[in-house]
Amino acid sequence: MSAESDLLDRVIRAGTASDAEISELVEEAGLDAVIGVLVDEVLFRCDEPVNATPVDIALDLTHGTERRRTVFRIVRDEPIEIVDAEEPVIRRELRMDVRDLVRRLYGRADHRRAGDFYDTFLPTRPEHLWELPAILAATNQASGTLLSGCTVPHVDLGALSVAHGSDKWASFHWYTAHYQKEFAPYRDQPVRLLEIGIGGFEGELGGPSLKMWKRYFHRGAVFGLDLFDKSALNQPRLTALVGDQGDTETLVAIAEEHGPFDIVIDDGSHENEHVRTSFDSLFPYVRSGGLYVIEDLQTSYFPRFGGTAGDEAGPQTSVGLLKRLLDDLHYQEQEARTDEPPTVTQDAVVGVRVYRNIAFIEKGVNGENGIPRWMDDEAWVALGAIPPAAE
Ligand SMILES: C[S@@+](CC[C@H](N)C(=O)[O-])C[C@H]1O[C@@H](n2cnc3c(N)ncnc32)[C@H](O)[C@@H]1O
Repeated sequence: MSAESDLLDRVIRAGTASDAEISELVEEAGLDAVIGVLVDEVLFRCDEPVNATPVDIALDLTHGTERRRTVFRIVRDEPIEIVDAEEPVIRRELRMDVRDLVRRLYGRADHRRAGDFYDTFLPTRPEHLWELPAILAATNQASGTLLSGCTVPHVDLGALSVAHGSDKWASFHWYTAHYQKEFAPYRDQPVRLLEIGIGGFEGELGGPSLKMWKRYFHRGAVFGLDLFDKSALNQPRLTALVGDQGDTETLVAIAEEHGPFDIVIDDGSHENEHVRTSFDSLFPYVRSGGLYVIEDLQTSYFPRFGGTAGDEAGPQTSVGLLKRLLDDLHYQEQEARTDEPPTVTQDAVVGVRVYRNIAFIEKGVNGENGIPRWMDDEAWVALGAIPPAAE
């Protein structure tokens, strides 16, 4: 892990730590280094600016007697800029203890978002008084934009998917409603998420869903894997990797370096053989309690993707894989069970939730005992709990 990503990781974890622990981190790493991480995150999270005239807002972060100023220039249709200019015309000053910003950004999603900063509207009496209302309006809008970047956003994954240009909602897929439900328990965790398939048409960098996951998992590290090099997308908490999901060696090397993962999503080629290879290679690298997601199960019925023509998906398909996982989930109940140790999926699949065209496979310890085999049918018949078999 590089020094930068190590610091990022520590700052993320500090989001749920005590004041003393955050102070210790700031003292060890240095206030400027920690503020560097926070400002990158604020810039990523800010809503699109709406003010038509540029406004400079100062964010002063304090730690004990130390104080650092970052000035954000905010205006509609432009990326927000950090202004180094000697004399920006600062309209508003927001002052906050650096520990509160760490918590706002990387604490729990329901962390309070008020009563933790000082706000000063700077006296900038315009030359003509009639300009004042417009200045006030623009300043309020710009302050709202900056504060949107200083919080965990309320996220509607459907709206976010559409805004970023992913096809996970309102296209031929209706997945985000399922994601919203399935991912909610993970939102506050510092998850490591790998998505196979970054997306983007020819000549386009893509990455809509990776940006969506980065925004949703405010403490998460998001990795994408694609056949094409999309490393220009790289930014804090988002890494684009290159590789073929049909190649076990590549997948294992990636998982050894960046895993274990809390969540893996397969939204790559949707070739049935690739889906199975990826699952077999990566499921062992999902942590216990994590999820493996497979999108576009419909290709199980498309022969050109290696699917089965007809109404019953064969064992080589994604749906065939899910049917096998249902058997593995119940391996202890099977009459043919031997004393062989369980396979990885028999031992660790604890849930298979299938919605139309998408499946969520939950990993855990599949150890809850069924009826022991020594309690055979004869014992139950003798106890009168079940009727004797018909002659
Ligand atoms: C449907 S797009 C992904 C869309 C994106 N996940 C989203 O939700 O916006 C599929 C991506 O999978 C990539 N892909 C196709 N075959 C692949 C393979 N064998 N290994 C890795 N990526 C592959 C394509 O280059 C394409 O970018």
